[in-house]
Amino acid sequence: MGLLQTWYPPTRENWETLVSVWQIAVPVLGNLQWVIGWYGMGKTSVASRLNLPGRIAWFTMEAPGFLTLLYIMKTMPQQYGITDLPWQNKVLAGLFVIHYSYRAVIFPYIQPSMSPIHILVWLFALTFQLCNATSIGCWLAAYGPTTAEAWSLTGPLPTARFVLGIIVFYLGLSGNFFHDEELREIRRAERRRQERLRRQQKGGGSSSEAQRGGGVEKHYRVPEAGLFRWILYPHYLCEWVEWAGFWIAGGWACVPARAFLFNEIATMVPRAVRGRWWYLERFGEEKVGKKWAVLPGVY
Ligand SMILES: NC(=O)c1ccc[n+]([C@@H]2O[C@H](COP(=O)([O-])OP(=O)(O)OC[C@H]3O[C@@H](n4cnc5c(N)ncnc54)[C@H](OP(=O)(O)O)[C@@H]3O)[C@@H](O)[C@H]2O)c1
Repeated sequence: MGLLQTWYPPTRENWETLVSVWQIAVPVLGNLQWVIGWYGMGKTSVASRLNLPGRIAWFTMEAPGFLTLLYIMKTMPQQYGITDLPWQNKVLAGLFVIHYSYRAVIFPYIQPSMSPIHILVWLFALTFQLCNATSIGCWLAAYGPTTAEAWSLTGPLPTARFVLGIIVFYLGLSGNFFHDEELREIRRAERRRQERLRRQQKGGGSSSEAQRGGGVEKHYRVPEAGLFRWILYPHYLCEWVEWAGFWIAGGWACVPARAFLFNEIATMVPRAVRGRWWYLERFGEEKVGKKWAVLPGVY
């Protein structure tokens, strides 16, 4: 009970400790991916008794994040005698919830198929979500600026900066969705192709491929639309743009927003670079060409 009282939501002291550890631990763990070849999710998932079904794993590891943020936003202001949070706090909380309504709920639902996720990856992602939502949620609900005056002191032209941040956030969100959608379309197109073959087979034609049936699980192609022309993980890049916008809106002193962005980059860069190696191995230099992994000119 005592632990719950000081951690859920955390006292200011515990929150500050969490944010400090959070900024160091994730980059360290994320960078371990450079030395550990294994990653039990997506393209690089392999059969294991410790695998969870992709959709269920994705939903249950991602949803606790925004639910935690909502819980903190509901309970903490009262505890600190805050009767009404400024509109900026509510807008930022809303953006977080909008992103995760897509990422946690809609995304696993509309993916044509998802590879299984190993329980260790699931646990890491769940911990990431809980820590990140607590870090950002507490800042929004009580420990960051909680009055109009405090917001006016967050830097020059705070309202214009906030609006710019929201525009950048939505540009990133749209780009992320667009490129996720391109990947979905590869499997939808393959499903349509297989259905066409089956129809032809029923109509008298016969093809061994149609008889095999196949399904679209683990069907991959080199994507080409949008920024995929130049990079293999533009959906990652767009996600970073999104959270960079969130940080701009929150102000340079919004440490939780900065930590989130840097932690995402630290965990996703090795994944994208390893993903590029996977594409090269699977499709060869000729098809992958000079596409960068995620950051043109760098990776
Ligand atoms: N991974 C992370 O650490 C992380 C962190 C924060 C946010 N996100 C965001 O979450 C979303 C998904 O991330 P992710 O790491 O799962 O991305 P991903 O490896 O690119 O996979 C995304 C989805 O597309 C399918 N897919 C991937 N490449 C494909 C190809 N060449 N042809 C056909 N289908 C393909 C995957 O199927 P399979 O599952 O069968 O491989 C998966 O369902 C992204 O928008 C990303 O920005 C990811």
